Amino acid sequence: MFGVCELDKDFLWGGASAANQMEGGYDLDGRGMSIADVFMFYEKKERHLAKKELTIEEIKKLRENKSNNFPKRRGNDFYHHYQEDIALLAKMGIKAFRMSFSWSRIFPRGDEKEPNKAGLKFYDNIINELLKYKIEPIITLSHFETPLVIATEYGGWCNKEVIKFFQTYCYTVFTHFKGRIKYWMSFNEINAALEIPFKGSAIPFSQDRLYETQVHQGLYNQFLASALVTRELKRIDKTAKMGCMIASFTTYPASCDPDDILKAMRANQEYYLYADVQANGNYPNWYLKNLEKRDIHLNFSKEELDIIKNNTVDYISFSYYLSLVASHDPARKVGEGNLKGGVENPYLEKSDWGWAIDPIGLRITMNEIYYRYNLPILISENGFGANDILTVDNQIHDEYRIKYLQKHINELKKAIELDGVICLGYLSWSPIDMISAGTSEMNKRYGYIYVDYDDYGNGSGKRYLKDSFYWYQKAIASNGKVL
Ligand code: BG6
Repeated sequence: MFGVCELDKDFLWGGASAANQMEGGYDLDGRGMSIADVFMFYEKKERHLAKKELTIEEIKKLRENKSNNFPKRRGNDFYHHYQEDIALLAKMGIKAFRMSFSWSRIFPRGDEKEPNKAGLKFYDNIINELLKYKIEPIITLSHFETPLVIATEYGGWCNKEVIKFFQTYCYTVFTHFKGRIKYWMSFNEINAALEIPFKGSAIPFSQDRLYETQVHQGLYNQFLASALVTRELKRIDKTAKMGCMIASFTTYPASCDPDDILKAMRANQEYYLYADVQANGNYPNWYLKNLEKRDIHLNFSKEELDIIKNNTVDYISFSYYLSLVASHDPARKVGEGNLKGGVENPYLEKSDWGWAIDPIGLRITMNEIYYRYNLPILISENGFGANDILTVDNQIHDEYRIKYLQKHINELKKAIELDGVICLGYLSWSPIDMISAGTSEMNKRYGYIYVDYDDYGNGSGKRYLKDSFYWYQKAIASNGKVL
């Protein structure tokens, strides 16, 4: 009982992905459009436009636009390559593959009563293929890909009707895949609901004074939906587990000035908010005070709050790419990051996309989250985005990625073996190159497997194994001993 913890023999070494970033085939076999299909590619100098919140007029125009570059409509063409891709993942030895179901492939508009059979069939094939190789499928129900109709006709997640549609979708997949899928998670990086409301909760941007209220209502509705489907999952399949998924933003104070510490404390509370509700079942008071101060009134009932309270998650999963720094000094420049950035950390190097590289931050984050909630954790994303070069003899020497992963996994091992954190697995983003969520680039690559497409969809689509592929293969085979 007091011994050193080791990585469990069933530790889920794996990779994580999302339907909208890899599948392509956006209009095949009855699939409806999703919000991901209206994100355009922008060149580097205009990249800030990729992050702009879209108005309803802009969304409708983009929906009809067939001539511009919409990389998420193409993905990496997993739709046609899934057998080959899963065989490669199996060759690498992964034990778990996190993917999402595209809601609009199964319910093209999102509000139907009956599913699109061809959509379900597609996922049947994938899940069966994974199980054939004994790879554990881990499913995200909603990963930045709400059906577009929910945004254009219902105003997004702030509309309570959407909860019912989501329940129908979840009920369908829970019953259909019962016994084949053990791990589920409801909303990817649920923080997106407040940070990037269109991607997170399909709410079109508006100047309306109620926009802010809609955004917070959208988050509340997702919390409620998540609790309702957790209850439903347990009814349908007692052995299945539901997790939440948050983007971790461990934030350090820029100095020991109490004003910086206070600022960092609040920044951390802001990202804990999501697990506070989904794991503890309660809204923290600071958040409620904040809503009150801003005159934001949510539409909720006592009965709904009880549902949230009584249907919390079984495990906490989170993405970890970077740590942030908070300063009370408004003159300090804010840098880039996943969903959001912080002020520069002089002790850390950055990726070409300006994301601070902080392996020790992973150990800190694992400790903070595990000991705050006392639930098993799952690292559902971590990885290094880089513009890899394919050599003339089809090699990819990505030693920078190996270095990043080595350092992070070493810290993960310390969190488990020295600090006693209970961690179910490590799913790196993404085992195969796919379109970037934030910038819609193909050339921001995270994979162990290179896909020969560029930002414009030019290329053969062929898959090539990077040096990191063989490195991860050994890391998995040795259960993390050989890094
Ligand atoms: C997370 C998302 O924000 O980070 C993924 O859950 C995403 O969908 C990943 O791909 C990396 O971000 P990006 O913008 O580099 O693709």
